[in-house]
Amino acid sequence: MNGGREPDPGTVAARAGLGRPGEGGADAGVDLVAPLGLAAVRAYRDLEALDAAMETRDVYRRYGSGSVALLEDAIAGLETPSGGERPVARATASGQAALALGLSLLAAPGRRRVVVVRPCYGGTDALVGGPLGNLGLQLATVDLAPAGESDHGALVAASLRDDVAAVVVEVISNPMMTVVDVPAVAAACRAAGAACIVDSTFATPFLFQAFAHGADMVFHSLTKHLSGHSDVLGGMLLVSEDSPAAGFLDGFSRLFGAVLSPFDAWLALRGLRTASLRLERCSANAAALCEFFAARSEVDAVHYPGRGGAADEEQCRRLLPRGRGAMLSVDLAGGRAAAAAFMRRLAGVRLAPSLGDVATTVSHPALTSHRSLTPQGRAALGIGDGLVRISTGIESIDDLREEFATALG
Ligand SMILES: Cc1ncc(COP(=O)(O)O)c(C=O)c1O
Repeated sequence: MNGGREPDPGTVAARAGLGRPGEGGADAGVDLVAPLGLAAVRAYRDLEALDAAMETRDVYRRYGSGSVALLEDAIAGLETPSGGERPVARATASGQAALALGLSLLAAPGRRRVVVVRPCYGGTDALVGGPLGNLGLQLATVDLAPAGESDHGALVAASLRDDVAAVVVEVISNPMMTVVDVPAVAAACRAAGAACIVDSTFATPFLFQAFAHGADMVFHSLTKHLSGHSDVLGGMLLVSEDSPAAGFLDGFSRLFGAVLSPFDAWLALRGLRTASLRLERCSANAAALCEFFAARSEVDAVHYPGRGGAADEEQCRRLLPRGRGAMLSVDLAGGRAAAAAFMRRLAGVRLAPSLGDVATTVSHPALTSHRSLTPQGRAALGIGDGLVRISTGIESIDDLREEFATALG
């Protein structure tokens, strides 16, 4: 605290993982960089020492490691609502592993249905319906209309039966950028005894703190904006302190075993320290690119938080007052051929099936993130073959405008 005022999340993140001078003795210095320990296991003097260590996370890397704990602690702090309880966090090997671990905590006899609100990352419903379906979970979906003026709470409530364990929802949806009314969805979940799981990958805790809006669990793909340099694959699962699942998250994480490696945690922590600044710049670039694309005749529609009508704009003001994110999608007139030509003409912006890099990248949802859906399934969500998703980086906006103008032809 700064004289009673809480520091900005960007300030907290910039200092994440750093030790304090004096920790190793009054005059001892401390590295101005987070420590990295690679040991998979530690050795102990005798059985008594090992017995005591087994109660900690230090003994074996599947249970935890110093570098991973620093990252978990940093992101748990960023996700803690003002004046609220700190969530419990466990880092995982990917965003997908975070969701799978989260659902393993919630599924119970008589509650094996998972409602996925779409649009969302295509791997989310594919994971629930595929590998987790084989383990007994049942997938149900709620599809939001492409330009949604709908009551998200009522739509989700209508899908909730007493066998629903959880509802999975993104606050900024991939790839249509619909802003979902998470507080209304969370209220519907509470009324039905289901957990509300928020995928905050696009929003990050810098733009949206899901626990303050009623989430029971939050997960991130660390692979994206939080790490920010396309050199980490990782995830983070956070469970609200007052959820019963918080008590066995640690035990399940140890047994599940899909944990983050220390080096990935170290890289993610380094990326996290600049994430707030990157998102600020990327969001400003994304907003400017929306204006640019909206004025072009080659573009049928631009998708960005707030552009989906009055309700979307109101929702943005309420839920995303700190910024609307780095992601936008554009519908190119001319379908796949137009998208292919556009991408071929990009000189510096790379075509890559991920997002959140420090440099701008583009992707094609129909062929990549939403490939597992049928063409009809994609069409129902507004994902056509001319849809190009843009993950905006920190480059100069003038350079980006010029390059995209050349690519449009
Ligand atoms: C919104 C969203 N959530 C989750 C994931 C899955 O993350 P990971 O690839 O780290 O498993 C992705 C991946 O693209 C994503 O875009």
